[in-house]
Amino acid sequence: MCWRPTLASSPAAQPLLSLDDVEAGYGRAALVLRGLTVHVPPATVVCLVGPNGAGKSTALKVASGMLPPRSGTITVAGRDVTRNGPQEMLACGLAHVLQGHSVFREMTVEENVLLGAYTVRDKTEVADRVDFVKTLFPVVAERWSALAGALSGGQQKQVEFARALMVRPRVMLLDEPSMGLDPKATGTVFEQVVRMREAGLAVLMVEQNARRALEIADLGCVLDLGRVHISGPAPDLLADPQLASLYLGGRARAATAAASLARPSLPEPATPAAPPDPPATSEPARA
Ligand SMILES: Nc1ncnc2c1ncn2[C@@H]1O[C@H](COP(=O)(O)OP(=O)(O)OP(=O)(O)O)[C@@H](O)[C@H]1O
Ligand SMILES: [Mg+2]
Repeated sequence: MCWRPTLASSPAAQPLLSLDDVEAGYGRAALVLRGLTVHVPPATVVCLVGPNGAGKSTALKVASGMLPPRSGTITVAGRDVTRNGPQEMLACGLAHVLQGHSVFREMTVEENVLLGAYTVRDKTEVADRVDFVKTLFPVVAERWSALAGALSGGQQKQVEFARALMVRPRVMLLDEPSMGLDPKATGTVFEQVVRMREAGLAVLMVEQNARRALEIADLGCVLDLGRVHISGPAPDLLADPQLASLYLGGRARAATAAASLARPSLPEPATPAAPPDPPATSEPARA
């Protein structure tokens, strides 16, 4: 059976993933999430932005079952999954690509990608999933037999996406996919996020590279102190001058605005560090 997600769900559709009034924290420390509500409709890219320490990664950990919430509700397609652990969340269709790089550099691209389907015994099913990720990420197909460590940072990130897609998720949880990438590689990775959305996946993405991320997102949420400070269509957030100066501008502009409004720490600008990436091998699929 072909597992490809279907196309063309409206951003206004019923949420696929909902976090409602979620409180969560680590051990006995104070709460990090303080009543977080985020809804991710099908075939939609929702971008979480906000200052360092706002709780963005924590929100993704709660969504993927890595961190149990202390209160609140998590639903997937209307089903209450609040108490699910990571394996059960995966089975519900939530795949989490963690902050930082996680490819196995000494293994080939093929071996890295197939790790995502190591529990699948049906070879036809595995082959179908491989075809899908190769179509979605042409560079994965082109470098299939290469050692993953030989790929550029942006290409490695696409291998991570491909491995996560091998579990046949409905929602991709992406934590800082552009971290450590230069602007060109960041553009390529964001194009692939758009392609995932065009393939029918929902994406909940955390990004420090807030302005560029919101440019490709459908919806945006600004987190501050563990709850959503403002949310709405991404173009509206980009057009909001106060928001732009607080969260989307350079360090100096943001710091000035923050001081005037007594806000907490601010997002760091992007940190180009990765080796240069080749041009994208396909056009972005956004209409
Ligand atoms: N494993 C942990 N144990 C204890 N405290 C943690 C842990 N992970 C995160 N925290 C704390 O939770 C708060 C929110 O962290 P989180 O990583 O969610 O922030 P973030 O918004 O993703 O920040 P950044 O933009 O720096 O990635 C911070 O105060 C952090 O110190
Ligand atoms: Mg984080």
